[in-house]
Order: sequence, then C-alpha cells, then structure tokens
Amino acid sequence: MLEARQLTHRFDDGTVGLDALSAVFAFNELLVLTGENGAGKSLLARHLCGLQRPTSGAVLLDGTDIRAIRGGVHSQIGYVFQDAEHQIIGQTVREDLAFGPQQYGLHHAEIESRVLQALERFELLAHAESDPQTLSGGELRRLAVAAIVISGARYVILDEPFSSLDPRGVREVLHAILQLRQDGRGVMVVTHELEKILAHADRLMIMARGSLATQGVPAQIIGQLPRFGLRRPAGPIGTMTWLS
Ligand SMILES: Nc1ncnc2c1ncn2[C@@H]1O[C@H](COP(=O)(O)OP(=O)(O)OP(=O)(O)O)[C@@H](O)[C@H]1O
Ligand SMILES: [Mg+2]
Repeated sequence: MLEARQLTHRFDDGTVGLDALSAVFAFNELLVLTGENGAGKSLLARHLCGLQRPTSGAVLLDGTDIRAIRGGVHSQIGYVFQDAEHQIIGQTVREDLAFGPQQYGLHHAEIESRVLQALERFELLAHAESDPQTLSGGELRRLAVAAIVISGARYVILDEPFSSLDPRGVREVLHAILQLRQDGRGVMVVTHELEKILAHADRLMIMARGSLATQGVPAQIIGQLPRFGLRRPAGPIGTMTWLS
C-alpha cells in the first residue's frame, strides 16, 4: 500500500502546493484523480514516486517512509509524466523500452520478448530503431505508457495519459490501464477527461487547492464535480469509456 500522510509541500515563494494531504493508494485498484488546473495533482504524483521532498509529512510504501528505502522507489512506483518527452531515456525507441526491465535484472531473452510485445501492442514496431525525439506527440505518449507497462512497477501513475492521442491511441492506453489492474497492480489516472475512463474506475478522487476535497466510488462523487469547478460528463457512469 502507498500512503500520503499529512503530506505538505511549500514552494520557495511560500505558496502551499500540498496542504497536509492524507490518502491511501491501494494496489489492485484503478483510481481516477481529477481537479482544477493547479490543484496539485501532478505535484502529488511527483511526491508519490519520490521525485519531490516533502516540506513536512511523508509518503509511505508498505509503512516505510520512501526516503528510507534504499535505491529509491522508482522501480516500484512508475510515473508517466504529463509531458511525455521529459522521460525518454533511450537513444532509440527499442532501447527506451528495454531500460525498465533491465533495472530488474531480467534475462536478455526475456527483455527482448517483452520489448517486442510492447512494440506490437502500442503500434511502435515501425519506429523501433527511431530516435524518440523524432516521434509525434501521440507516438511519444504511447512510448511513455508502454515503457511503464513493461517496467514491472507495482503502482503506476499516469498523468493526463489521453492528451494528444487519437481515438485508437486512447483505446490502446485504456486497454493497457485495464491490463495493469488485472495484473494486480495499482493504477492512478490523473485526468480531466473523465468520460474516457470513469466507467472502469474503482474510486474517484477530487483535489482542490492542494487538498483532497472528496473521494469515493464514482457514483457517489460524480454529482459533486461542479462544486469544485469541474464538469460532470453527461449520461450514466457505465457509458464513460472509450472502449467499444
Ligand atoms: N516553483 C513554484 N513556485 C510556486 N508555485 C508553484 C511552483 N511550481 C508549481 N507551483 C504551483 O503549484 C500548483 C500545483 O501545480 P500542479 O502542476 O500540481 O497542478 P495540477 O493539478 O497538476 O494542474 P493541471 O491540471 O494544470 O495539470 C500550481 O498552482 C502551480 O502554480
Ligand atoms: Mg498536472
């Protein structure tokens, strides 16, 4: 279990980015996190995967402060950045995909097979030997998601995973998200595009001004969206998916 306990982030200019936020993030759960621009969603995500140091409070993984975990948590908590280009490591698409599994010390053949699967599933085969810098925005996002999917992380955070994707790209990413949950991994999807995923969510969380405003099963929470400056998608929750 991943947990934020009284997590507070104060920027140098005094702005409070996270205000004593406490929440639990379970493995084998699909959580959708939403909230107005600037609510602190991406900042929370960066804390959960150890990229930021809290001003006070802590992030705990299975009860241990992540600052005390040797080697860090990046192999266990995966984060697909809002700006996919910020997390490309490899010189080629194939190399980039291999990086995560390599951290696990998997056999060469196993890595090759995982990379091939990911290339096929995310329709990146034609770009396997390309420099990631040459990919389109949507291709880059598919690469970032694919890299996290095959990394083996126990908890995966995807920050605006549907942005700049065409309908087929959205379906691929949705499939990948559902597969992650089926594998027993925890998934947090940070998004404004609730109509694409909410049908599959176990829990909906709304952030406002650095705090957790409300959370619960989507059916109980969805009516409160307008109160936090958000739009409630039309129709029943069961229709809020882009899977056909
Ligand atoms: N260096 C900084 N100094 C002061 N405030 C900052 C700094 N960096 C970020 N912020 C503020 O922190 C807040 C939280 O930002 P964050 O990126 O987490 O928002 P978000 O919920 O992800 O928004 P969006 O939906 O637009 O992605 C914002 O109001 C932002 O202006
Ligand atoms: Mg953000």
